[in-house]
Amino acid sequence: MNGNHELDSAIAPHLRVPRSNTARLRSMGYRPDFDSFTSRLASSVEQVTIAYFGAQSVDGDNPAALASIQDLGRSMTLANGPIHSDRALWVDDWGFTNRFIVAYWTDGYAFDEWFAVDGAAWTAETHFMDGVGFFTEVVRPTVDRLETIFTSNAHPEGLANLAESMSEPFIEAGYWGSMRDRLPITQTDPVAGAGTPSGTSSGARVVIAPQHNLALIRSGQDFSETAGPERAFFLEEIEPTLRAGMDFLRDEGRSFGCYANRYMDVVDENEEFVEKRFAVSLWSDLSGLELWAKSHPTHAKIFASAMRHMAEFGSTAELHLYHEVMVVERQHQWFEYLNCHDKTGLLGVDAT
Ligand code: HEM
Repeated sequence: MNGNHELDSAIAPHLRVPRSNTARLRSMGYRPDFDSFTSRLASSVEQVTIAYFGAQSVDGDNPAALASIQDLGRSMTLANGPIHSDRALWVDDWGFTNRFIVAYWTDGYAFDEWFAVDGAAWTAETHFMDGVGFFTEVVRPTVDRLETIFTSNAHPEGLANLAESMSEPFIEAGYWGSMRDRLPITQTDPVAGAGTPSGTSSGARVVIAPQHNLALIRSGQDFSETAGPERAFFLEEIEPTLRAGMDFLRDEGRSFGCYANRYMDVVDENEEFVEKRFAVSLWSDLSGLELWAKSHPTHAKIFASAMRHMAEFGSTAELHLYHEVMVVERQHQWFEYLNCHDKTGLLGVDAT
């Protein structure tokens, strides 16, 4: 926990600029109750690429969907593949099993090269298979449009696997609005969303014309190392409330500007659950995400539980939490769907 020493900022030194937007942080004398860490990318990295590839089928053990995702995974081990990738499974509320590979690149050229050879075909008409849907959702934010927060500096997830290091504990944590304060671009830009994503079909394929400043959060929990009372607290107190919040966002999230929410199980290459989950959601405006986090009873309760969890288990806590948030410009998004049901990802925007 923090004493009276100076705390660093979550914003990396080379991304700090004079603020024209007021920070939500009210006093430099403020100290968060608990330490948080952020991943530090090398200062030479200007942009990252994060690609969500999905295969969707009504039957959970569809061999073509499984074989396709395995092939895609193999292609990522070849030249120009990602620095890091995760496998995940999510059964949506229409009963479809969605298999994901979430892949991360810091080298945009490598992504372009890999995508041209192995990625673009994923949603091409030539990849049409009866009974299987494919989708590609790519965001390529510049680094001033990203923030991450971790409860542990020794358990990198997602974007942090691209980082050079983890930061020291920082000041912009533990108050509503701290996520915005950590996003470098908000020093000068309120990142208001503009427009609405909408699809154009050609045959079984739909390409989305994106909106400006789409917000995306990946928020995860690793409970694989928890035991005893800590594990019980997570599974019995935190997780059911979290699931209720995730169901709300999936079903009624549009009232907050949430276009889509998936609460996914992380799996290994054999599709065995590894006791980690993450939610990924897409928002029309960062402020809708903030409002939900601050005001919805589920997140407010999760937040309070997290505080109790930290107070009770403190520095020995083995529940590891993190999130990565980004606000993405129109020209840095690519969402494409082949033979998917009409509530999949951003297709659901038109369907409602
Ligand atoms: C077990 C699950 C979760 C726990 C324990 C949890 C707890 C917390 C805590 C303690 C904070 C304050 C961190 C900080 O900024 O210093 C926070 C912030 C936040 N959480 Fe969660 N959370 C969970 C899941 C989620 C999920 C799934 C989402 C979104 C889909 C989410 C959205 C947010 C947002 C947007 C903030 C930043 C709010 C702001 O700074 O104004 N959280 N959460």
